[in-house]
Amino acid sequence: MSVAKRDLEDNRKVTTRRLIEMKQRGEKISMLTAYDYSMAQLIDQAGMDVILVGDSASNVMAGNVTTLPITLDQMIYHGKSVMKAVKRALVVVDLPFGTYQGNSKEALASAIRVMKETHADCIKLEGGSEIRESIERILCAGIPVMGHLGLTPQSINKFGTYTVRAREEEEAKKLIEDAHLLEEIGCFAIVLEKIPAALAAQVASELTIPIIGIGAGGGVDGQVLVMHDMLGINQGFSPRFLRRYANLAEEITRAVQAYIEDVKTQDFPNEKEQY
Ligand code: KIV
Repeated sequence: MSVAKRDLEDNRKVTTRRLIEMKQRGEKISMLTAYDYSMAQLIDQAGMDVILVGDSASNVMAGNVTTLPITLDQMIYHGKSVMKAVKRALVVVDLPFGTYQGNSKEALASAIRVMKETHADCIKLEGGSEIRESIERILCAGIPVMGHLGLTPQSINKFGTYTVRAREEEEAKKLIEDAHLLEEIGCFAIVLEKIPAALAAQVASELTIPIIGIGAGGGVDGQVLVMHDMLGINQGFSPRFLRRYANLAEEITRAVQAYIEDVKTQDFPNEKEQY
């Protein structure tokens, strides 16, 4: 079914329950990041199922090398901006590094701030058994949690590289165990980042909750990409899993240069463009 037709038929708000129903009937889930009002509005109106206010904002919005420096206040700022625009998509906000790993009380306080101040639908955090207590406490407060396993960028200093994770048997076994644990304790979905496609497909077939992949192949229940990467705004990042749907860097540069030229040559503004 085309996106336009689906939208006409079903523009109800996407919920965590509807994502599970989508998995059950084999409809793939679309998910994309957004960090600001204007882009979130376009992405929502285009019919996206899930919008992730990712801590990748640290890279693509704030210019940091990793996701580690972004703060809870900054994530709340992005979450609020996105929530003002979105009518249909489910909105997930990342808990940033250092706001949930310390202890479960701190994790709950962080999640509550996100929910109260942004009005988002749910939160996402990175990790498995190590953060079980934090996840359980957040879930007990009635806040839906999306897990994130595989390449978890907040642990980049432990990994030392952004290469494919869980190629080795031991790491793959731990990932499968963690995925089952997240489902058992009540997460409504899991992001699997940059792991072998066969492993991701195995996890998706063993679990009843939706598995959303990024660099995890086509055997999962949905796909997520970083908006700046798929629109070709961020040109310095070209991993094998990325498909570019636009080349906005070129388009924006061309438009900005045309404007500069028109200002310099006094072509802009013309008589019709003034009062
Ligand atoms: O922060 C982010 O953009 C993410 C995606 C890569 C899944 O977590």
